[in-house]
Amino acid sequence: MYIFKEIRTLQQFLEAEKKAGKKVGFVPTMGALHQGHISLIDAAREQSDIVVCSIFVNPTQFNDPKDYEKYPITINEDVSKLTAAGTDVLFLPAVAEMYPEGVHGEHRHYDFGYLETVLEGAHRPNHFQGVGIIVHKLLEAVLPDGLFMGQKDFQQCMIVKKLLDIIQLPVQLVICPTRREEDGLAMSSRNLRLSSDERQLATAIFNELIRIKENVNQTPLDELKQNAILNLEQQGFQVDYIEVADANNLRVISAPIPESMVALAAAKLNEVRLIDNMLL
Ligand code: PAF
Repeated sequence: MYIFKEIRTLQQFLEAEKKAGKKVGFVPTMGALHQGHISLIDAAREQSDIVVCSIFVNPTQFNDPKDYEKYPITINEDVSKLTAAGTDVLFLPAVAEMYPEGVHGEHRHYDFGYLETVLEGAHRPNHFQGVGIIVHKLLEAVLPDGLFMGQKDFQQCMIVKKLLDIIQLPVQLVICPTRREEDGLAMSSRNLRLSSDERQLATAIFNELIRIKENVNQTPLDELKQNAILNLEQQGFQVDYIEVADANNLRVISAPIPESMVALAAAKLNEVRLIDNMLL
């Protein structure tokens, strides 16, 4: 696996590959890789000739500085996992490479409209602007044919879809299913920060989403959401939201609709904030 730390050398390498007719698949990550990331690499490998993964813990998407400082970094393990998965290229830039004017010198702004005002957008001010900025910069650097992202970050996938419309890059967004641990907990780099007691409890979010899925057509949505919040709070979670929305546009709904619906949850277990979602 080739490792590039500079955009210039990455681009030189990729230009030659593209000239040779190779199709590039790209998996952007913030590292602390788990099987969920590797499933994105696998999907990219199946659909592309060259697989590029980036690891960059992007400071502009963290609204909470403590969350940024504590974001797990496991670069040696990540390199081994990516090599074993058959990744061709790792792009591993420093902050100064992605933000040459400094993180406060970055003035790109995107109109994500309604999508940025709800759920994660409402609870994490400016988070999606930070995601938009870095995904835009990474796409400009890699210019891939396919961009592979996980459904675990449902709202992020919708934001990136909108970003692709705004910046008009001909990139195919491929959304891959959430990978789960045996007890149902969605795989996430943040799970590494859970103590063993918290890890046991964390699966409760998945259980509540399942309960909503199983009862969505029998029980009023408000009751389902309230019960889920109460159950999680009783187990020590601080709940940011449990919502049910139209999966096509993320409009929060108060009664079931015939189109596809998604239940979304975000809750903190002490210091660690977890999100998950389930198509209903
Ligand atoms: O989902 C993530 O890991 C990040 O938000 C992303 C897409 C790599 C941008 O920093």
